[in-house]
Amino acid sequence: MTEPLLCVENLTKRFGGFVALTDVSLAIAEGERLGVIGPNGAGKSTLVNCISGLLRPEAGRVYFAGGDITALPAYRRARLGIARSFQIPRPFRSMTLEQNLAIPRDYAAREPTDADALLAQLGLGPKRGALPGTLTQIELRKLELARALAARPRLVIADEVMAGLSHAEIDEMLTVLLALNKSGITILMIEHIMRAVMRFSQRVVVLDAGRKIADGAPADILADKEVERAYLGA
Ligand SMILES: Nc1ncnc2c1ncn2[C@@H]1O[C@H](COP(=O)(O)OP(=O)(O)O)[C@@H](O)[C@H]1O
Ligand SMILES: [Mg+2]
Repeated sequence: MTEPLLCVENLTKRFGGFVALTDVSLAIAEGERLGVIGPNGAGKSTLVNCISGLLRPEAGRVYFAGGDITALPAYRRARLGIARSFQIPRPFRSMTLEQNLAIPRDYAAREPTDADALLAQLGLGPKRGALPGTLTQIELRKLELARALAARPRLVIADEVMAGLSHAEIDEMLTVLLALNKSGITILMIEHIMRAVMRFSQRVVVLDAGRKIADGAPADILADKEVERAYLGA
């Protein structure tokens, strides 16, 4: 097997006396679509934060493109090609869509970004001069994704980008994410919506109470008794 693009080894993260992640390990191959699911509070966002550099784990290591990035601050990881979207979109409210993309483009991009092309690709072209406050829910989610993409990442971590969307909007978002993956971007999808994550992912990792309880093909995950118990108990 070729070296994974991202490798998380034995990650443990505590908040005071509370252990949010216990000895979590996973790997993602370049070009892969990996889903991470788990009940509320399972540790999904904490895992994203440890990968993107917002949080430091108490134990374990994170490797990206062959290098140990465990000690690197978030902006250095962004420059290496890790981008993430936030579960609650965090646009700059007083800036237009175009200006919102200029920040990651100028500070994190490894290659030039065509902000106009990126907005057009996501169907936000006509809104390039608008303020985020005028966007619909799905447009805001797309802007959040566009902000991640403006950094020209190799890996995109999408943290619950479908929350609050209708069935049709979820399908639209899936189409966008599949196209990005097809263009060569590795995608880690954190998602609560089972139908979406199972359709999108080539492999699924399940977290429950901070531990990894399953890692396999979507069909195997759906048939997994321990996964079923974790969701019924939630
Ligand atoms: N900054 C924090 N301080 C204290 N506890 C936290 C913090 N962030 C997350 N937690 C706790 O860690 C657990 C996992 O949270 P999170 O990673 O957000 O779960 P998920 O994204 O799977 O819903 C939850 O019990 C949450 O309350
Ligand atoms: Mg979360």
